[in-house]
Amino acid sequence: MCGIVGIVGHSPVAPLIVDALKRLEYRGYDSAGVATIEHGALARRRAEGKLINLERRLTADPLDGTIGIGHTRWATHGVPNETNAHPHFSDDVAIVHNGIIENFAELRSELEKDGYVFSSQTDTEVVAHLVSRELRRGARPVDAAFRALKQLRGAFALAIMFKGDDDLIVGARNGPPLAVGHGEGEMFLGSDAIALAPFTDSITYLEDGDWAVIRRNNIQIFDMSGEPVERLRRQSIGTSFLVDKGNHRHFMHKEIHEQPEVISHTLGHYVDFTNGTAKALDLPWDFAKVDRLAISACGTAYLAGLVGKYWFERLARLPVDIDVASEFRYREMPISKNSAALFVSQSGETADTLASLRYCRGEGVPIGAIVNVRESTMAREADVILPTLAGPEIGVASTKAFTCQLSVMASLAIRAGVARGHIAKGEEQVLVRQLAEAARLATQVIKLEDQIEKVARDLAHSRDVLYLGRDTNYPLALEGALKLKELSYIHAEGYAAGELKHGPIALIDENMPVVVIAPHDRIFEKTVSNMQEVAARGGKIILITDERGAANSTLETLDTIVLPDMPEIIAPILYALPVQMLAYHTAVFMGTDVDQPRNLAKSVTVE
Ligand code: F6R
Repeated sequence: MCGIVGIVGHSPVAPLIVDALKRLEYRGYDSAGVATIEHGALARRRAEGKLINLERRLTADPLDGTIGIGHTRWATHGVPNETNAHPHFSDDVAIVHNGIIENFAELRSELEKDGYVFSSQTDTEVVAHLVSRELRRGARPVDAAFRALKQLRGAFALAIMFKGDDDLIVGARNGPPLAVGHGEGEMFLGSDAIALAPFTDSITYLEDGDWAVIRRNNIQIFDMSGEPVERLRRQSIGTSFLVDKGNHRHFMHKEIHEQPEVISHTLGHYVDFTNGTAKALDLPWDFAKVDRLAISACGTAYLAGLVGKYWFERLARLPVDIDVASEFRYREMPISKNSAALFVSQSGETADTLASLRYCRGEGVPIGAIVNVRESTMAREADVILPTLAGPEIGVASTKAFTCQLSVMASLAIRAGVARGHIAKGEEQVLVRQLAEAARLATQVIKLEDQIEKVARDLAHSRDVLYLGRDTNYPLALEGALKLKELSYIHAEGYAAGELKHGPIALIDENMPVVVIAPHDRIFEKTVSNMQEVAARGGKIILITDERGAANSTLETLDTIVLPDMPEIIAPILYALPVQMLAYHTAVFMGTDVDQPRNLAKSVTVE
């Protein structure tokens, strides 16, 4: 998290840096800052809160200078205020940082003993003082930076600028991504290529352990032993346009409404609607031969993987191990050479998911990455990229990326089922035709928005909400609760409906709304029994079902949201929509910041 930018340019850089930071605001929005070398001296402007506050500060008090660094922060060490905002200074050094310096406490006490006075609570400030100490010890700027880097443990992407040299930025990467942009007589550094898109599309991605000496007319890249290394320079496909909200009040609303189109694009990439087949992709494993599939991801992407588990096991009889990536990476899971591994991520940068991918790489397992950002680190490190064609997702809460992840997973599961001989030709055609219905039905589901908005009006008064579902609706119950929590800050829990009586039923009283996700499927009746248990204890049921489910449920509900009847395979994709709309409208009624909820960031590049 946090976005960083550096420019060694030939015109005033502060406005360009702010422009680049706007593209990086998805990485954090607790505070922001810019530093330049102005008339030979380090100068900076910083502001607490969103980037707009920094812009106002710069309008009132502009910064001159043709070299500069900038930062948008997601706080790790120290509260999000102006003092803790980057860039941090120490004597002649200015620094911006994304990541966590794990040995910062010991470095800090060592530096304090050497007389350094800290003005912030951040881990980053130690890096500035370390570089400055090396300068004081007589090192030249580049050597001082290198010596300081060697003392750091943890995850970092850094940009370092020196007062005495307005033709030098040192960048370094160990963990979080960092891209160098090549210009004509000017050079750029940024957390991703999109940030640099208006300036250049000629990009070199630093690899872990790389550090770069960036000057107007050349770039040198080294590894941590100080040896020069060659890194590919490539043409970025990043768009230079800042995506706008169109006629929508929030990005999230726009992204919910884009789903019929992006689901259709994504499915079209993986299945052949004309022939009724799941496409044979160029995969580094053979579905017929693998005996296990490991899936790992975080948050909403993990829940897409959880739905995938039901599909792979049911349609392809392929056993799936699934873990949240923060557990997967450390649990030393034995994984056989006959396995394949799938990692799911919108950003393709989530630190824990990336670490899990690297664990599997170390175990020699073929790796697929279901990612939305095609130039991300996961996309580059996987054996095969399985793209979601969702387009840029700006709202911090994932919506269209989730349903596109589900679309990829459903198609892959069908493909696996065919390859493993569990789906016959005729069945494949039926399933693919059913997938073809998803986009049309999504348009119909979105038309329920007015009703869902009314339900949300009531939900906004709740203190706690329970979500229940069985089978593939269980991950959706978890997703519903996650969305409601993160957007409206109302406490919510998702449970497997059958698990209710093993504890959570104690919470039920007349103040507890219970959202039940229950299409009329094989186990609808079981879920109805669980609803009876809720009703018997005064719980208020909001039932999300289909026409058959509504006709067959004898229960009194507070509200019933009725989706069209649909084939089972596409139900998880379509039932995600009311769940998203419910959370969205509840948050709007609560007046929270829907696109940038408190404490969150779109790309989580720290553990
Ligand atoms: C929730 C949400 C997060 C992300 C998670 C993983 O709405 O968006 O839970 O799903 O942080 O992010 P990616 O998919 O970028 O790896």
